[in-house]
Amino acid sequence: MDFRERARQIVPHAYAIACPYAIDRGEGSLLFTSEGKRLIDFTTGIAVMNVGHAHPKVVAAIQQAAAKGTHYCFAIMGYESYLQLGERLIQQMPAQTPQGKPIHWKAAFFNSGAEAVENAIKISRYATGRQTILAFEHAFHGRTYGAMSLTSKPIPYRRKLGPFLPEVLHLPYPTVYRCACAGAQNGCDCAQVTLDRIKQMFTTRIPADEVAAMVIEPIVGEGGFYVPPPSFLPGLRELCDQHGILLVFDEVQTGIARTGTFFRFQAAGVTPDMVLTAKALGGGMPISGVIGKADVMDSVHPAGLGSTFGGNPVSVAAAHAVLDVVEEEDLCRQASEKGAHAKRVMQGWQEHLAIIGDVRGEGLMLAIEFVKDRTTKEPNKEIVPQILNTCYENGLAILSAGTFGNCVRLLPALNIPDDLLDEGLAILESAIRKHA
Ligand SMILES: Cc1ncc(COP(=O)(O)O)c(C=O)c1O
Repeated sequence: MDFRERARQIVPHAYAIACPYAIDRGEGSLLFTSEGKRLIDFTTGIAVMNVGHAHPKVVAAIQQAAAKGTHYCFAIMGYESYLQLGERLIQQMPAQTPQGKPIHWKAAFFNSGAEAVENAIKISRYATGRQTILAFEHAFHGRTYGAMSLTSKPIPYRRKLGPFLPEVLHLPYPTVYRCACAGAQNGCDCAQVTLDRIKQMFTTRIPADEVAAMVIEPIVGEGGFYVPPPSFLPGLRELCDQHGILLVFDEVQTGIARTGTFFRFQAAGVTPDMVLTAKALGGGMPISGVIGKADVMDSVHPAGLGSTFGGNPVSVAAAHAVLDVVEEEDLCRQASEKGAHAKRVMQGWQEHLAIIGDVRGEGLMLAIEFVKDRTTKEPNKEIVPQILNTCYENGLAILSAGTFGNCVRLLPALNIPDDLLDEGLAILESAIRKHA
């Protein structure tokens, strides 16, 4: 029986499992099913296993930490490894403002991406004394109520689940390919058009002085891997500075070297007020982090933030091992080089396959968007499950994405061997050709 059929008998139907097989174990960029079938993994558990499955360093760190004790609760009994992890992440943050003023950063750890988002909302409201949170169209920030309120896609994430957090508004995102200005390829400046629309909303929808924070994915994840034009995030920073609004980068999916820099904001050359990290940080162990400017983070009263398990010693040890591997294996460089190669290969397919509307992304966060017609850009959502099923049959684990459900996304391990990357790309290409 297809594993998904069996799972439907045990778990709620809301779990839409992509893979038809039960997974027995993972090793680097390979997964092995219970029946011994080999799958090349282009999913990494949704951008989690950036260092690959069962990395020996991460496994050893988890085993050693677990043998010493799994839980003390940092809020009541602290330990050095938590502080050292904070220090290591703070090292990734800009040391000073563009004007040369030193910036003091602080870090706190939680369990999941959504929990990091929840805490960013709390801190932003507390620090500014304002209530409104601005998120963006196509955003995905998680499934808890605060995070879901910031998430934009109605189906499947919001439908029938409201009411949501009040005082949340969604701003346009410069998607380029699907931008209201018809796209940069037609000579429009998507960044400026979008910034102008946002400024207009401060007149027509919400006074800027009531806005606590803008929360943004520096590359849209779940919503379809839209990369903003280079001038957009600096423009947003300027707008936030003008109005005393905090700028929060949700790097839950883009972080930990995925796009070719440790955090994506580093490539944008913009200093955030807070950064959220999760997913790949723990190499499969649950941990998330909020790193923010000290005056912002310190605004909350004692015990106003916290978590029983957040930053538990085993997850923290795994995170240290992940950061070691990122450095030792130069994963930023690997993500850039392997990602550039994969993008070139897929852009080659685009020349001959009219159903490919767009190939986009950075580093090893890449997507193909399928359309029925390149002129109308009508989303071709129907072809995506067919392509995915053929990929799974032929030995490639891969995921869909996109507000319109018409993208296939590639999120391989950042140290995927070149031959496995090419083998996976060949399986994907033949699946696309079969259904084109
Ligand atoms: C950008 C972003 N933020 C937040 C989340 C939520 O993370 P979690 O599933 O760990 O709660 C996700 C998950 O996909 C994400 O991609």
